[in-house]
Amino acid sequence: CPTELYDGHNRRIDYLRISVTDRCNLSCVYCGDGRCDNLPHDAILTYEEITRVANILAGMGISHIRLTGGEPLVRPKIDVLIRMLKQLNGIDEISMTTNGTLLERWAVLLEKSGLRRVNVSVDSLKPERFREITRGGDLGRVLTGIETARQAGLNPVKVNTVVMPGVNDDEIIDFARWTIDRGANVRFIEQMPFAKGSASVTVADMKTAIETSVGKLEPVREHGSGPANYFRLPLAKGTIGFIQPVSNCFCDNCNRLRLTADGKLRLCLLDDSELDLKPMLRSDLTDDEIRQALQWAIMNKPARHHLSDGIIPEKMMRQIGG
Ligand code: GTP
Ligand code: 5AD
Repeated sequence: CPTELYDGHNRRIDYLRISVTDRCNLSCVYCGDGRCDNLPHDAILTYEEITRVANILAGMGISHIRLTGGEPLVRPKIDVLIRMLKQLNGIDEISMTTNGTLLERWAVLLEKSGLRRVNVSVDSLKPERFREITRGGDLGRVLTGIETARQAGLNPVKVNTVVMPGVNDDEIIDFARWTIDRGANVRFIEQMPFAKGSASVTVADMKTAIETSVGKLEPVREHGSGPANYFRLPLAKGTIGFIQPVSNCFCDNCNRLRLTADGKLRLCLLDDSELDLKPMLRSDLTDDEIRQALQWAIMNKPARHHLSDGIIPEKMMRQIGG
């Protein structure tokens, strides 16, 4: 009978997002100002250290791990980490969120190593605009990467689209039609204000735009560990998901923890309270002692974030892992 893990607000915690690097080969406009220094090598956890934390948490009740970054595919030999995590008792699923630029090269090996599926960020279907949003990315390469991942069996491949007012909100309909024409699975995400003053297009507005121009959105059940709600347009093979962190926070149902690349247990994406595990991992503490520290931190996971009061994290998205 698997162990279940609950926080101090009686929320079941079964999902761990592990950021394997703060480095990224793109520099998307919503992710930060592009001016952050990379962590030095010895500041980030080794694969052995990451696996040790994951093993302790798996014993406490974590069953799904998602690898994030920065960009997870820029960390060398990521397949080795996947194999190490795959062997842990209690871990049923390992997935990844990537910008897709290196997927063509990696997809087959990732699947062979035990990765179950990938989510890929695509914020524009126009090559020139894509290049601007990502500060240099190549849309064609990402679309080829998605197709390679699909053929390798990393399904369903979900596309994450952050909707930015005045930047790509005129493409909502094109993305929605993509679910009909090509069977893509697209998730529209409200932009979280990582810089003061950034506005967001609400999910309600996105739904109205789609239903007015394309067709009725029928709710569907869909596999996922995250906060998305899924729908389907008439005749579409793919689904449309909506993630609503700004206009309707999903904190009451939060099921997740994060491990940052430099070894901090982060309890909420949008709240800076963290437990620094690296000194513990590099001391002579036993697994039991580390488990107790984790248990205490998880009991104190914040009830909610305070975006609506204008409180935003100190860290940039790429330092946390999304
Ligand atoms: P699935 O397992 O496929 O459901 O993945 P997921 O939605 O959990 O993962 P993904 O990395 O694709 O995240 C999608 C979006 O949800 C991103 O914009 C994340 O930043 C956002 N998101 C993920 N977790 C949280 C969270 O705990 N709080 C908030 N506010 N947003 C989150
Ligand atoms: N608001 C909403 N989503 C964001 N992501 C990155 N920054 C933001 C933001 N400011 C998303 C990316 C990626 C996922 C991990 O987080 O689209 O797919």
